[in-house]
This record gives sequence, C-alpha cells and structure tokens, in this order.
Amino acid sequence: MQKLLPHRLGIGLTSLALFGFCGSAPDLPSPTGEAPKPDAFGKLPKVAIYDRDPHHIWNRLYAALYVRTTKDGQVYGNDELDPFLWPDSKYLLTELRYQQVLALLDEFQATNCAKLIRDPLKKAMFQRDLWAIFDWLADYDPEHQKEKRHRRELGKRLGRIIGQVALSAEEIRGLPDNYAVAVGSKTFPPKHDPSDPKKPFLPPELLATDGPWVLLGVRGGLLAAPFHVQFFGGRSAFFVLMKLPQGRKATLDYLQKLRSFPNPLMPRPADRGGPGPPLPILNPDLPQFPVGTQVALVREMMLIDNQGTITPTRLIEAIQFRVFRDIPGKENVPLERFDFLYSRQDFYEFQLRRKDLFSERAGGLHPVGSQEEESAYHLFLGSLQVTSDPLESAGSERSSGMAVILKSCTHCHGGPHVSGGPGIHSLRSYRRDFSQPPDLVDVSRQWEEEAAVRSKRQHYSWGLLQGLLE
Ligand code: HEC
Repeated sequence: MQKLLPHRLGIGLTSLALFGFCGSAPDLPSPTGEAPKPDAFGKLPKVAIYDRDPHHIWNRLYAALYVRTTKDGQVYGNDELDPFLWPDSKYLLTELRYQQVLALLDEFQATNCAKLIRDPLKKAMFQRDLWAIFDWLADYDPEHQKEKRHRRELGKRLGRIIGQVALSAEEIRGLPDNYAVAVGSKTFPPKHDPSDPKKPFLPPELLATDGPWVLLGVRGGLLAAPFHVQFFGGRSAFFVLMKLPQGRKATLDYLQKLRSFPNPLMPRPADRGGPGPPLPILNPDLPQFPVGTQVALVREMMLIDNQGTITPTRLIEAIQFRVFRDIPGKENVPLERFDFLYSRQDFYEFQLRRKDLFSERAGGLHPVGSQEEESAYHLFLGSLQVTSDPLESAGSERSSGMAVILKSCTHCHGGPHVSGGPGIHSLRSYRRDFSQPPDLVDVSRQWEEEAAVRSKRQHYSWGLLQGLLE
C-alpha cells in the first residue's frame, strides 16, 4: 500500500497521514492491491474509542480484536477491560477474521499508522490492549499446527506495532495518576457508609504512603496476589491493601500479631470435618481483625517503554473492596462447621473504561453496578475449567459464559454454601489453601511493582515479544 496509494491519489505519505487517510478510509485497496471484498471480510462492529471516527484504523483494529458479535447480533466487549477470548477461542484464527485482522495490521504498518495518534494516554491504552492479544496468541496448544501459523503471523505484526506505539520512560512517568483524578473529581463518597452499603466509595488515601491503608507484601519478595498476576498474564501489578477501623498503627500491630502466631496452619482435627480430603487447615484461633476492617485489591497497568523495558504506570485498571460487616467466632458453631462460617461483607468494584479515561470523566474509573455482567472466565480467574468460547456456541450455552460481577465475590471470599471461614480466614492473599500462609508485611508500591515485573520477565510470551519489539 505504501507504493500504491500515493501514486493513485497523487499525494505524498505525509499528507496522507495529515489528512487522516492513514487507515481511515474503509474501502482502501488491500495490501495486495485488490479491493477487499466486504463479504469476504465480514462486518466489523463500529466503535469510537480511540477517535470519533469509527473508520479510524485504531478503532477498526480495536473492534476487530476486542468486540465480539454473536450470530444473533449481540455485541460483547465494547470498552471491556480484557478481551473476550477464552483459551480455546477460534475467533481471530478462523480464516475470515484472521485475514481481516492480518490486513488491518499490514495496513497499519504500511502507512505508519502508529503516528496517527500522539496522545500518550491513548498510546498507552492501545499498547496494553494489543499486548493482551499478543499474550493470548503466544499461549497455544502446540498440537494445533494450523493455529500455530496463524498465531505466529498475527503475533509478529502485533509485536512490531506494540513497539511502534511505545512511550519513552519519561512519557510514562507523565501519564496521569487516574486514581488521584477520580478522587479529586469528588464523584464518589470518600468513605464506606454502613447505612448505604450499595454506594460505591473511593478512599482518598488508599494508595498514600504511610496513610491509613497498609500495602501488604509477602516477606521474601513473592507476589502478594499471585493468582491475579498470573491470570492477567503478568501485564499488571496487583496491590493488596488493608485498613483496620482504627487506622495504620492498629493495622500494623495486627499484622505483627498475625506473624507472631506460632502455628497458623495445623493438622485437621478429627472433629473438624469440613469439605475435601484431610489436608491441613488454618488455625481457628488465629488473631482476628475487627468488624469494619476493609481490604482492597488494586490492579495497576504496566507498559513496555521504547527501550523494551516493562514499566509500571500510575494508571489503575481496577479496584475491588471488601468491607467486613460481621466476623462470627468459633464459639458460634461446632468445630467441624468452622470452615462454613463466613463474614457478611459489602463488595465493590471499579473498572477502567477507555472512553471515560479519554474524556477525563472521574479518572476513567467506573463503579460496577449491582447487575453488571462480565465473562465468567475472567471473573472466576479461569478456575471454572471452562476453556471453550461460549460466544462461539449457541444460545443457552452462551448464557453460562457471563456472570454478575458483584455476585461472584462470595464464591471465593466466603458466603452461604461455600467454605472459607470468617475474617482473616477469607483473606485469599493470606489463605494459601493447604500450604503455610505467608508472612504479610508492610511494603511500598514499588516493591510490589518490582515483584510483578520480575514475574512477567519469566513468561515465555515475554521472551517472544522481546524478539519482535522494534
Ligand atoms: C475465583 C475466585 C475469586 C473471585 C470470584 C473473587 N476473588 Fe477476590 N481474590 C481472589 C484471590 C485468589 C485473591 C488473593 C490474591 C491473589 O492471589 O491473586 C483475592 C483477593 C481479593 C482482595 C484482597 C484481599 C484478599 O482477600 O486477599 C479483595 C479486596 C478482593 N479479592 C475482592 C474481591 C471482590 C470485590 C470480588 C467480587 C467482585 C472478588 N474478589 C471475587 C479470588 C477471587
């Protein structure tokens, strides 16, 4: 296209880009010089995320990779944080969509479309969007040779574009602190209100050094949130934070007590049946935190800078809160029922929305509504053992692919019908199933970011991507 277009239109490439021709016309000739047949390519959903013009190539690429339209016309994934892709999805690999994405990626590179958008925030977001797809492509079953070729061809092109839109370290440092922006917008109350538990809140000091919230790390430098870091491909850092109602000192004192407790994990007593095999259990006498304690899980975006270095940002992609409304003690039940005790909790989640971020609405942080749904695969961190793509199956099966976000929390953090235990027993960053719980210590944001970067550097997909970055 680089050779064809200027010749046909009689203008240079620079002016093409200036006038927005780079990738903004839907019916440009394909890289081979033949006009793409619309029926051969299928219809692309129209989105206006990276630009107001849905034909803008950044929008078309985003739409082709992220937005899914089912056979009956339902649209999923428009401005969703993570791509609607399951481990066994065929989307992107079926001939039609594959050819379409391939052509878009070639068009993107041939006319240097990386330069079309200069806003560092959009470039950052676009890179993280492409990086997620790259990692999905890199993760394949080696038995599927045809898939392998398709994955490799798309991955090669994506890798190069990821490098082309990369920001400098300084530009990354200059990206907004969207949590501070959200707090500053005063869109949300600063505190949990026990009398209005449905109201989402954003505490201004959540991430402040030496504020009331303590950022929990694991002694020895292991990850505090290994499941999340792993599940989200190591592209985000995760922070676990805790606040006792009496503030920082009380929280630090509590953590000290927890660390000094002599036998947090103990053999399962005969009278404490509980579910599953007779594996060790958390000691019911563990020091407990008080009612009103709040814990948070914060997901922070990481990017690749123009030197190929994985670099944390100040962009928060998601926040989850749990507020403990009661903490039943072991005296409330016979010992064998202890695992089935659970704390009543209020759950909250905020997710980054691209459109809100770009239009400077509350730092882009969107409070998840009580009925809002998400792909169950993401919500349950891949633990449901469902790897096939529900959007590729018919009607009734598809419904099982989605779940209500705020109803999912009790499945893993204690609720009716699930085991877990009250208070500290339901703190998943402490309860490591049947192994010794970690020593939770007070760490800095940088400490946890470094742990996340170290973990990503060990991924196979990172090695692959490094070879492609320009
Ligand atoms: C599939 C299981 C699962 C579901 C569902 C789940 N979480 Fe978690 N959550 C975890 C795990 C595991 C951790 C520990 C961190 C890690 O290892 O990644 C965690 C950690 C947390 C933490 C930090 C404190 C802690 O317990 O360690 C908060 C806060 C939290 N989750 C809130 C929520 C909210 C709110 C929801 C519902 C929107 C939710 N979680 C749904 C598994 C889950």
